[in-house]
Amino acid sequence: MILPGKILHVVLTLIGLLVIVGGIGTATFFFGGFFNVAANHPDPNIVNWALVQVRMASIRRRATDRPPAGLLDDAATVQAGALAYARNGCINCHGEPGVESAKFSEGLNPPPDLRKVVNDRTPEELFWVIKNGIKMSAMPSFGVDKPPVRNNTIWAIVAYLRKLSSVSDANFKAWNETPLGGYWVSGCGPDRASGCGPGRE
Ligand code: HEC
Repeated sequence: MILPGKILHVVLTLIGLLVIVGGIGTATFFFGGFFNVAANHPDPNIVNWALVQVRMASIRRRATDRPPAGLLDDAATVQAGALAYARNGCINCHGEPGVESAKFSEGLNPPPDLRKVVNDRTPEELFWVIKNGIKMSAMPSFGVDKPPVRNNTIWAIVAYLRKLSSVSDANFKAWNETPLGGYWVSGCGPDRASGCGPGRE
């Protein structure tokens, strides 16, 4: 007759074995090169779902910076945001009214179509993403640029993104041909040539 203590022993041994075999299997899968890191290799739905949940939860918890009062609805700020959006290279990956994104953006994973998501995000979340970037994706952090993109410039980009669905191709083009206001290049000092473009400190 098997005693309960012995059953427990057998069960625990089996669990231990499973954990060891599982650990070896997982290590072999990842370190043995079986995991496919190719950007054109689709992830299973469950992985996609989990990545989105983890990303959103992480951003929600951290997005605590608040916009300066009145800035987001100011028309001049929206225009300055369109300019900063173009000059900081967002266009290459995210496209623009009347401007095709760079060819390589078709290979980005996930496809970053901002029109589809900006209205589902708070201004604080948009600000956080632009300032900090998103790990394990192509979204860069604009807060690590040297010099960093200024907070007010990032808020201007946020103001612009929130109006994205109503900005016409013609307006975007016109705004990008507007000469830069002093405000957006203030603090550059005499040496503007060295990385001190629009919206830079
Ligand atoms: C090199 C390509 C690249 C550049 C340049 C880039 N992005 Fe992104 N961006 C991405 C990718 C890819 C994602 C999707 C990341 C994800 O969902 O994990 C993304 C995501 C975002 C998101 C979040 C979308 C969401 O689902 O919540 C925002 C907002 C954003 N980008 C804004 C910007 C702005 C503004 C700029 C310029 C200042 C910019 N991006 C520059 C590739 C880029």
